[in-house]
This record gives sequence, C-alpha cells and structure tokens, in this order.
Amino acid sequence: MSGHIPVMLDEVVAELGPRDGGVYLDGTFGGGGYARAILDAAACTLWAIDRDPEAVARGAILAARYPGRLHVIQGGFGQMIALLGEHGVAALDGVVLDLGLSSFQIDDPARGFSFRGEGPLDMRMGQCASGGGVTAADLVMNLSEAELADTLFHFGEERLSRRIARAIVAARALAPITTTTRLADIIRGVVPPSRDGIHPATRSFQALRIRVNDELGEIERALAAAAQLLAPGGRLVVVSFHSLEDRLVKRFMAEASGRAPGPSRHDPRGLDSRAPPVFSLLTPRARRPGEAETTRNPRARSARLRALARHAGTPADQKGMA
Ligand SMILES: C[S@@+](CC[C@H](N)C(=O)[O-])C[C@H]1O[C@@H](n2cnc3c(N)ncnc32)[C@H](O)[C@@H]1O
Repeated sequence: MSGHIPVMLDEVVAELGPRDGGVYLDGTFGGGGYARAILDAAACTLWAIDRDPEAVARGAILAARYPGRLHVIQGGFGQMIALLGEHGVAALDGVVLDLGLSSFQIDDPARGFSFRGEGPLDMRMGQCASGGGVTAADLVMNLSEAELADTLFHFGEERLSRRIARAIVAARALAPITTTTRLADIIRGVVPPSRDGIHPATRSFQALRIRVNDELGEIERALAAAAQLLAPGGRLVVVSFHSLEDRLVKRFMAEASGRAPGPSRHDPRGLDSRAPPVFSLLTPRARRPGEAETTRNPRARSARLRALARHAGTPADQKGMA
C-alpha cells in the first residue's frame, strides 16, 4: 500500500495562514500531510477529524510527535460542531477540507473503492470490513433499476446511466454482484471505451461512493458548520476533486461573501443575504495545481482550491454573525 501525497500543500498552507497560538481544524486528516505542514508552519493547536478509523490510527502516531498540539477525532466533518464541542472547542482560526479519498483508501483493494484490483464492493469510508452501514454492494443488489440509474446520473454525471442500470439488474439476477471487478466488467460490457482513456466504470464508481458516504450532504453540513466556527479573521480552505463537490463549495463561498444572491436569514446554513457579508472570498477563481505538481502526482490533476476569510471586523460587527 502506498502513502498519500498531499495535493496543493504549499497553496493550502499559504491560504490558511497558520499563526502562533492559533487553533485550526483539518477536517480530512487522511495521511496527515496537511496536518504536519500546518503544525510545522506555526506554534498552533490542530484538531483533526477523519471518518476512517485507519486514518485516525495514523493520527494517533503523529499526535505523539506533537505533544499537546494535535488531537485526532473519528467522525464525519459534517458533525464538526458537535465533535469539537465535546472537547470544549467552539471557535477556530482556520478550517481545511481536502475532499474525497486518500491514496491509502484508493490503493487498498479491501476497501472496495477501485476497479483496478479485486475487492469487496464496500466503499464505506467510515467503516472497515466488519462495521455497519450500507455498502456499495447493498446499493447495487437492492436499488430498483430506476433508483440505480438516478444514482449514477446524479452522483456520477453518467450519461449512460439507464443502460448501465439495466445491465446491473440483469447481471444480479444471475448471481450476486459483490466484487469491484465484477461490477467493472458489467459496466465495461455496455459502455464503450472513451477517447480520453478514462475507464468506463469511473463515473459509476464515483456515484456509488458518493451515495454510500453521503458525501454531498457532508460537504453542505461542513461548510455551514465551518462558517459558524470561524473566529474573526479565520479562514476556510477547501480542495475539491470533481465538479459536484466544487459546485457546492463555489456556490457557498459566493453566497457567504455576498458575490451571489444568498439565502434568507432562515437558511439552515446560518447565512443571511440581507445582512452585510461577513466573509471575503480569497480566491475569486479557483486555484489549480501547477504543472510540476500534476507531473509528479497525477491525482492532483483535477484539484481546485477555494478559500474564504471571515472579516476581522469590530467586536460590534461580529455580534450575531453567521
Ligand atoms: C484526500 S484525503 C486527505 C489527505 C490529507 N489532506 C493529507 O494530506 O494526507 C481525504 C480524507 O478525508 C476523509 N473524509 C472524507 N469525507 C469525510 C467526512 N465526511 N468526514 C470525515 N472525514 C472524511 C477520508 O476518509 C480521507 O481520509
């Protein structure tokens, strides 16, 4: 199993701007690449969350190297307010989210995320094989043909969703679909190879993974929570890897900074379009990795970084902020 190469690391640290005495959250600890860089950049405290118990175990090892400065919690970043609240943390100077999967997860066939090696059709980020929760195999075996097609279309932007759903339903009537390679073969049987060399099963695997882990719901909850937790001057930095993620981040940041018509003051995210914005967009356009990075680490190719800062403001301005 290989390690994880952190994506846009220098850019992330520059946008977050860690300072001595600050309190930060890395909502996606993964292999700890960002965490190490943040802890090395300033004498700060870092809280880290990951829903994957294997990442949390790596975090415990790293925490021992930064005594009293790194605290790693298992859970979904969408629940960051409750998770941090249990430790008495109610305000942060910065939050970073590096969405999606780590290479540890993708490269381990036993986790079932990749069609490149045979493994159980699992895809749960938060559970290892013995845990609970709905797996990708559960979806593939139990969803109706229409639900399967909708899932592939909405979460994978798969044009051939209906054709693939039909093939899955026909195949599962013959024998249960329980492995990554069997599902990939079924999809390859009905999706012609693309000219850009993308594997025919890529979009379907993305769709199932997003649904299994409620990834878009988690992102929406996390953005709202981060906005609430940020102290004056605090920053939110998000790296996303596909258009569904990036669209949510882009829209949220545009609304929070008053660049797009926002929601009403009853919006569950706590943003109020009628109040003057209390955030500034640090990245009017998404930042992209440089060529040197994408050559060194092809997984960085689709990365987009967006960042937001809460105004430093006056104490009066800060009363009742989002
Ligand atoms: C791309 S990796 C992060 C890599 C990390 N920045 C590094 O430098 O090593 C994403 C991590 O976020 C975790 N993750 C994804 N969605 C999550 C969620 N909703 N809540 C908590 N962790 C999540 C995954 O389990 C994975 O370990």
